[in-house]
Amino acid sequence: MIIKNNDMNLPRMIRETTEYYRTNIAINSKRTCSCAPNSLNCLSGKEWLKCQIGVWQFFYESRDIRDKDLHPATFPISLAKKVISLFTHEGELVVDPFVGSGTTLLAAQDLNRNAVGFDLQEKYIDLCAKRLISNNLFNHAQQVAIQDDGLDIPYYLEPNLISLIWTSPPYANLLNRKRKNKSRRDRNNEQLNKVEQYSQDPRDLGIMALEEYTQAIGNIFEGLLPLLKPKGHCVINVPDMWWENERITIHVSLINELRKRGYELRNTIIWDRTNIVNKIGIFGYPSNYITMGTTFEYLLDFWRPV
Ligand SMILES: C[S@@+](CC[C@H](N)C(=O)[O-])C[C@H]1O[C@@H](n2cnc3c(N)ncnc32)[C@H](O)[C@@H]1O
Repeated sequence: MIIKNNDMNLPRMIRETTEYYRTNIAINSKRTCSCAPNSLNCLSGKEWLKCQIGVWQFFYESRDIRDKDLHPATFPISLAKKVISLFTHEGELVVDPFVGSGTTLLAAQDLNRNAVGFDLQEKYIDLCAKRLISNNLFNHAQQVAIQDDGLDIPYYLEPNLISLIWTSPPYANLLNRKRKNKSRRDRNNEQLNKVEQYSQDPRDLGIMALEEYTQAIGNIFEGLLPLLKPKGHCVINVPDMWWENERITIHVSLINELRKRGYELRNTIIWDRTNIVNKIGIFGYPSNYITMGTTFEYLLDFWRPV
């Protein structure tokens, strides 16, 4: 079944077996607002002022996916809305190369932005389409979920069209192990001892060791750079992680790799998650000081230099 967008021919989702697979899709990307040509977004001065603070906090809402059986690692719709409002105008195009449950698409729908999201997994593409339909918003922008590798995005979009790339990629293979942390034990959490991985597809970044992962992600973002408008932003959400008592600085690997691939780092924002993490246990006491990775994550803001 093809579920159509509102007022044009693109379907809500494109799968490996359906029409439009690996073809150029003519999705809109032009502003529909009347803001000044040199402005970055549709925000008022007052709203802009609030965004200048480099530490952000969010709450989940009822539409957010918190059920780890549906998707193990989603970010809140409110976070996606803040990033999209800050770096795009109404009508412009947002791309999420690792769209998962479709949070970016839903936020784009709320804000009247066109958006395309990619994921390897058919079940996540189905979930994206389901969420977009039940969001039940009939604005003019289009949102499409595509089942494909992030590496294949250049098949679908012309150069210089994207205003914002916004995503949270897998964290290499660091979730691909049994979950044992104390908060999961205390809550008798069903996720205890579960392996949080998306698939065993060889293209899945979530099964790669850090070095291979960094190369693979670099290849995907190198392919995306010419599709971004000059000065178009690319915001990536990642935490660091602990692995056998060593800090794995995923954010450093990503910054170095994206710089090598032609991006310029503009801002580092901290997503302070202390208001949403559940009871955390004591780690390392009394000899080994470890900050809990779950209490904050990085939002790395790059752009395509002119
Ligand atoms: C951290 S999740 C994204 C979650 C999303 N932000 C949300 O709110 O639902 C990362 C996603 O990347 C997908 N993925 C992994 N490797 C991929 C690849 N090479 N191309 C496209 N998607 C990939 C996984 O299936 C997973 O759903």
